[in-house]
Amino acid sequence: MADPFAKLILPDQKEAIQLPIKEGSLGPKVIDISSLSNHGIFTYDPGFRSTASCDSNITFIDGDLGILLHQGYSIEDLADHSDYLEVCYLLLQGELPNAQQRAIFEHKIKNHTLVHEQLSKFFNGFRRDAHPMAVMCGVVGALSAFYHDSLDIKNPEHREICALRLIAKMPTLAAMCHKYSIGQPFVYPRNSMTYSENLLHMMFSVPSNDDLPNPVLVKAIDKILILHADHEQNASTSTVRLAGSSGANPFACIAAGITALWGPAHGGANEAVLKMLHEIGDVKHIGKYIERSKDKNDTFRLMGFGHRVYKNFDPRAKVMRQTCHEVLSELNKQDDPLFKIALKLEEIALQDDYFIQKKLYPNVDFYSGIILNAIGIPTNMFTVIFSLARTVGWIAHWTEMISAPGLSISRPRQLYTGEKNRPFIAMQYRD
Ligand code: SDX
Repeated sequence: MADPFAKLILPDQKEAIQLPIKEGSLGPKVIDISSLSNHGIFTYDPGFRSTASCDSNITFIDGDLGILLHQGYSIEDLADHSDYLEVCYLLLQGELPNAQQRAIFEHKIKNHTLVHEQLSKFFNGFRRDAHPMAVMCGVVGALSAFYHDSLDIKNPEHREICALRLIAKMPTLAAMCHKYSIGQPFVYPRNSMTYSENLLHMMFSVPSNDDLPNPVLVKAIDKILILHADHEQNASTSTVRLAGSSGANPFACIAAGITALWGPAHGGANEAVLKMLHEIGDVKHIGKYIERSKDKNDTFRLMGFGHRVYKNFDPRAKVMRQTCHEVLSELNKQDDPLFKIALKLEEIALQDDYFIQKKLYPNVDFYSGIILNAIGIPTNMFTVIFSLARTVGWIAHWTEMISAPGLSISRPRQLYTGEKNRPFIAMQYRD
């Protein structure tokens, strides 16, 4: 029987410190170091490369094998056989819904798709050319100003209504960000439509015509939402958990998650990939950019490549590439120049020793922008769509943390490298 303890022997101590080894249902074991502070020493792990911040049963990732499971179901199966609302139910409840559960959940969501009419006035405070992510940070944070009736996070019914409101209202708010930025009137949600159909309806329909969204594009956007729904303890989900550990209300926590997602190293990468493909401009320039991405003196990185966890293909990127082919051929855009550059860039990069040695593969953001671009979604809305999709993951993790017994505030320590104790210097004696 393997020893359930790791033993740490510190230089100035004879007795080894026994640290329990914990094993989950899948993935690497962990060493529980929570008792270390009692011995006057901390662990040090900037960027949390070797740190598990919590236990969770929502999502499992195996970065070496390129596996992604949501409550035990593979992302490939969910992308092929589910839709986004079903995945939302799975992430929140832990089981796939039966027909009745699915119908009730969808009915509940549809009852919360409208936002308070006062919130639409909130947009007027922004410039029309504000980045939609800046607006989303603002309006999602403002939701807590409207829903005082459900902010008792210890009340399971309040937690449920907050989750339903957030999942239901994010498409409405995302579409309002888009409409505001292009000077068109806001379009109300239509409960006769499916979740993803409604999103495209609110983004692209105008009062002067009754065009319905293209079903191919509806299916494509729904698959993109599934592929972005959750991803374990990524930077934005960890931000939501950290904010939630202080007892902050869920709307404020989700707004914090949106801000963390915005960075180009995280959810902002899809927008950065499109900009990169436009900058490369032609297949013949790919080699130059791959060389630039290896140059430590050059800040250029191949956006959409690499991942903290995946050291193999991101399974979502594979599904995304297939969806790209489907959408572009349905739209007769097979000759989309950006897609051609992306395919060639992927082919060349995956044969390059640098990328092979550093295990840099395309990630979820590499192809998503090409599909969003083909659907007609402007580049500055890409991360807004990502934040919409990831809201269910964020709120599932928030709920898992808040509903677990023994919640305590997350408060990391540090390695202090500053000045030691210094006597104060009066102004007249300063240089
Ligand atoms: C998402 O965590 C998640 O789960 C995130 C996400 C989710 O669903 O929530 O999957 C979504 O954020 C996907 C990642 C999107 N970001 C990008 O595509 C931006 C480009 N990628 C890099 O910024 C980078 O790969 C990260 C941020 C994704 C990962 O960074 P790490 O784990 O800190 O890796 P690293 O920077 O230490 O890289 C290791 C080496 C370095 O070289 P050395 O210093 O060892 O010599 O690989 C190099 C890096 O310079 N490298 C790259 C590279 N990514 C890493 N070189 C060129 N191009 C790249 N894209």
